Amino acid sequence: MAFTSNEIYILGIESSCDDTSAAVCCNKRLLSNVVASQKVHEQYGGVVPELASRAHQQNIIPVVHEALKQAGISKEQLTAVAFTRGPGLMGSLLVGTSFAKGFAQALNLPLIDVNHLHAHVLANFIEEPGVEKKQPQFPFLCLLVSGGNSQIILVKSPREMELIGQTIDDAAGEAFDKCAKVMGLPYPGGPYIDKLAKEGNPKAFNLNKPHIEGYNYSFSGLKTSFLYLLRDHLKEDKDFVEKNKADLCASLQQTIIDILMDKFAKAVKTYNINEIAIAGGVSANSGLRNAFLEYATRHGKQAYIPKLSFTMDNAAMIAVSGYFKFLGNEFCDVSLPPFARMEL
Ligand code: KG4
Repeated sequence: MAFTSNEIYILGIESSCDDTSAAVCCNKRLLSNVVASQKVHEQYGGVVPELASRAHQQNIIPVVHEALKQAGISKEQLTAVAFTRGPGLMGSLLVGTSFAKGFAQALNLPLIDVNHLHAHVLANFIEEPGVEKKQPQFPFLCLLVSGGNSQIILVKSPREMELIGQTIDDAAGEAFDKCAKVMGLPYPGGPYIDKLAKEGNPKAFNLNKPHIEGYNYSFSGLKTSFLYLLRDHLKEDKDFVEKNKADLCASLQQTIIDILMDKFAKAVKTYNINEIAIAGGVSANSGLRNAFLEYATRHGKQAYIPKLSFTMDNAAMIAVSGYFKFLGNEFCDVSLPPFARMEL
């Protein structure tokens, strides 16, 4: 297929977990980004895969319709369709993937498959009309922290990323969510801990930090240490959590930030990189954002942080990633299946 226009309109589709999202971008400039979040999982304290795929089925058409409407373009004006191929929940991925394939075929548009992890990193390149934002220069190091991943990535180009380190068990987001659950906070607990931590003392409780070689992370020991701390204190005082919630949140959050930043700083030093970025749902954490910026100022690094709405799962990052692949003529066939497990 030959494209002559300088204006490439990409429809992005994201359905890897519990957010159904569609976005339209013109090159890297975002025209719309519609996200339907699924509240149904809150009562279960975690994402229920079967309910997630059913909700995606209900949401996908209205969300795409709204994204095109807000972008002010018709589906005939689109140049290509990009979709999340994985990683994610298979039932959820199937909805977005099947929709993207059918939609692209009906309109005779090229299809672009996007790796969800790449997309989180490339969220740092989303441009918005009227918003001045500097973009990372290659190579840069990115700390990708979400509900499913904690990774340090050397980003050599939009399509060439090297994994430097990753969690060997739980992700940082899981540590936030699971510890929040034992304190009786709603799901997902990360944002609640962030809010409560602002009122608490980060030095109130001492929690275990892992000793892992290299650039890998581990969060399962911290989770257990947090659980034992509550168990021991609850024996003495059944209201311990209620009385100490802010201090518990602040201490837990600070420990997670220290673990994340220690390894990341080590990688930045070894790789001698000047440009650094963060991405993923946990990069919405106000404490982590501050720690990251403070580190950058102290060490003379250029830091990039995505806008809050682009840290969570969203289709804007899929559309922009699709644009980068479009420039490299990287299209996919309709026979390409989604993958629940996908490496970076
Ligand atoms: O990137 P994301 O939307 O989904 C995945 O691809 O995993 O990340 C969701 C994760 C959840 O674990 C949630 O608790 C966490 O991001 N999160 C936060 C905050 N906002 C979202 N964690 C800590 N502080 C926050 N403000």
